[in-house]
Amino acid sequence: MKGLFITLEGVDGAGKSTHMKWLPDFFREMGQEIVITREPGGTPLGEQLREILLHQPMTQETEALLMFASRQENINQLIKPALSSGKWVLCDRFTDSTYAYQGGGRHFSNDKIARLESWVQEGLNPDLTLLFDVPLAVSRERLGKHESQDRFEQENDAFFEAVRSVYFERARRDPKRFIVVDSTLPFEQVRIGLEAGLLEFIGQHK
Ligand SMILES: Nc1ncnc2c1ncn2[C@@H]1O[C@H](COP(=O)(O)OP(=O)(O)O)[C@@H](O)[C@H]1O
Ligand SMILES: [Mg+2]
Repeated sequence: MKGLFITLEGVDGAGKSTHMKWLPDFFREMGQEIVITREPGGTPLGEQLREILLHQPMTQETEALLMFASRQENINQLIKPALSSGKWVLCDRFTDSTYAYQGGGRHFSNDKIARLESWVQEGLNPDLTLLFDVPLAVSRERLGKHESQDRFEQENDAFFEAVRSVYFERARRDPKRFIVVDSTLPFEQVRIGLEAGLLEFIGQHK
């Protein structure tokens, strides 16, 4: 794989979509070709699975399987071809979300997630993960501006805290892969901090 695989993580309302608006241009100005995708989703089938995942009731097992079904399509149709041709991939959520939401939030078996991960990803892992962190109150306030909530946004405080703590734990165990961002700061400050972190990471990976 020649390109860099960069994922954006964090609870709903943390700022992933907001920062996805400038990140591609930041990398393009360095001369990189960028492919943007998201999970669940990213491909035509993945987007259909996303609709089902966000709105249809289902068992935890089905939820985990559909997340990885969407991921399988995304990896094979978009992510791998892009990385092989030297493009950089920016993906809004990836397997850290599965560990955080299905594993942490829903208490779904980490062992089963790990088995699906190795089956579907075959060693493909993000090179860099940007973790946007906000506490519950900030996330709720920012999400309050939305009208309809999906199956995950409707979950209770304990679910949210479990998601957030799994993210922290994964970042703590793998500090080289993660840049953790305090996303409660004003947008410009978050952006400036992130740019510095990205330049440092890229400098180390040249
Ligand atoms: N640093 C920030 N300060 C204030 N509001 C923010 C900040 N970052 C994002 N927001 C706002 O919070 C809301 C949720 O952000 P969004 O990027 O959609 O989150 P996510 O994609 O992680 O769910 C949006 O209305 C966005 O404008
Ligand atoms: Mg978003």
